[in-house]
Amino acid sequence: MKLCMIGTGYVGLVSGVCFADIGNQVICLDKDKNKIDKLNSGISPIYEPGLDELIKKNFTAKRLSFTTNINRAISSSDIIFICVGTPTKKGTIKVDLSFVYKCTKEILKYSKRKKIIVTKSTVPVGTGDEIEKIVKRKKKLFTIISNPEFLREGEAIRDFRYPDRIVIGSNEKKPFNIMKKLYAPLINKGSKFFATSRRGAELIKYASNAFLATKITFINELANLCEKSGVNIEDISLGMGSDSRIGGRFLRAGPAYGGSCFPKDTKGLVSAAEKYKINLSVVKSVIKSNQERVNLLTKRVHKILGSNLKNKKISFLGVTFKPNTDDMRDSSSLKMIPYLCKKGAKVRYYDPSGEKNEFKRIKNCNYRNNIKSNCNDTDLVVLLTEWDEFKSIDFKKVVKNTKFKVYDLRNLYSAEEMKKKKIKYYSVGRPNTN
Ligand SMILES: NC(=O)c1ccc[n+]([C@@H]2O[C@H](COP(=O)([O-])OP(=O)(O)OC[C@H]3O[C@@H](n4cnc5c(N)ncnc54)[C@H](O)[C@@H]3O)[C@@H](O)[C@H]2O)c1
Repeated sequence: MKLCMIGTGYVGLVSGVCFADIGNQVICLDKDKNKIDKLNSGISPIYEPGLDELIKKNFTAKRLSFTTNINRAISSSDIIFICVGTPTKKGTIKVDLSFVYKCTKEILKYSKRKKIIVTKSTVPVGTGDEIEKIVKRKKKLFTIISNPEFLREGEAIRDFRYPDRIVIGSNEKKPFNIMKKLYAPLINKGSKFFATSRRGAELIKYASNAFLATKITFINELANLCEKSGVNIEDISLGMGSDSRIGGRFLRAGPAYGGSCFPKDTKGLVSAAEKYKINLSVVKSVIKSNQERVNLLTKRVHKILGSNLKNKKISFLGVTFKPNTDDMRDSSSLKMIPYLCKKGAKVRYYDPSGEKNEFKRIKNCNYRNNIKSNCNDTDLVVLLTEWDEFKSIDFKKVVKNTKFKVYDLRNLYSAEEMKKKKIKYYSVGRPNTN
């Protein structure tokens, strides 16, 4: 099939490349010339394991191309996937749909024959109806359907190839068969094809993300209780998660949830519900609790190092919101590091995905390109992101300062082992062993 992906970010690029890999002709369109130039010279603009190789393979096989030319991209495709960003409108909890509507107008302008428009971007319930209104002048040319994306950064290729379910929302019957054909290679390997109304599909995506954010927030709050009551949160996660009605995933205590989806989608869902005068009080309190969690973590740093942080050396291991991605959107580090620097601490960080523009202008914040130089004479190691290379560090060898402490926000190490090694060790939701 001839496909066009509008928006060559985490979702558009990964899905475009994977659609090409299962035999489709795919044009990836982006307004960002820099991104397209990079892609045309064989470099991926994002860090995603395995993506570079797949880009090269499908580009060479001439199934995949990259362009900024809207006319060419749209006129040569039968199915157009909208994969542009849907961020939160500044200062509100509303979803900014301007990118979605702008590219809809472009599709309208350049379409001369029948096309299916698919929203892969996460959009509030009813957005498909709004898109339909925009294209009503050439109504007969378009079928508008919803196909929300559930891939996770860092595991995006695997998630695309083996999704738990493929959700298609349409108010007409015909598109289901076309989408079934497109996704046949994945359905044949066991992925569930779930057909629903267009509004239903739009809402499934928000409901799923809000539920996962709720699970994380729930276990994070319980971790606070565990710390005070002398219980280990990992026992709680395991004990609860073994119940098949609950399930063990997304029940690991840690920092506040972050990334490009959960923070904005929980807000987006509350805002969409408000439009219908529905109060989603559970989701609202999840948002609040998650925001408070970042403050709680910085307070904990004070508890470990004392109220005066002036000239204290703090070394962050990992700053992205999760491993195997370079995505910094809504990572806890974006609030923690500026706060600690403001308090006079000397912060260094190392992240395997490289230096971050977000910290370049912050006084007292420096990037180091390996674990050793990041931590060698530090007062406190803050382990924020669970990259594989942080999972078996011999801290005594790496840190030369004899009085250093470790604050492990991912519970990667055993508190007992650290005690045996005489390292002052703090983690999340476990009884204090120091
Ligand atoms: N990132 C994820 O893990 C993930 C997972 C599932 C769903 N989603 C959803 O998918 C959507 C896209 O997310 P993302 O992380 O890929 O975003 P992104 O910011 O990485 O990429 C969006 C791209 O769209 C391009 N763009 C914007 N307007 C355009 C236009 N008119 N024409 C051409 N290109 C345009 C931008 O230049 C950018 O490259 C969002 O709605 C998001 O919520 C994201």
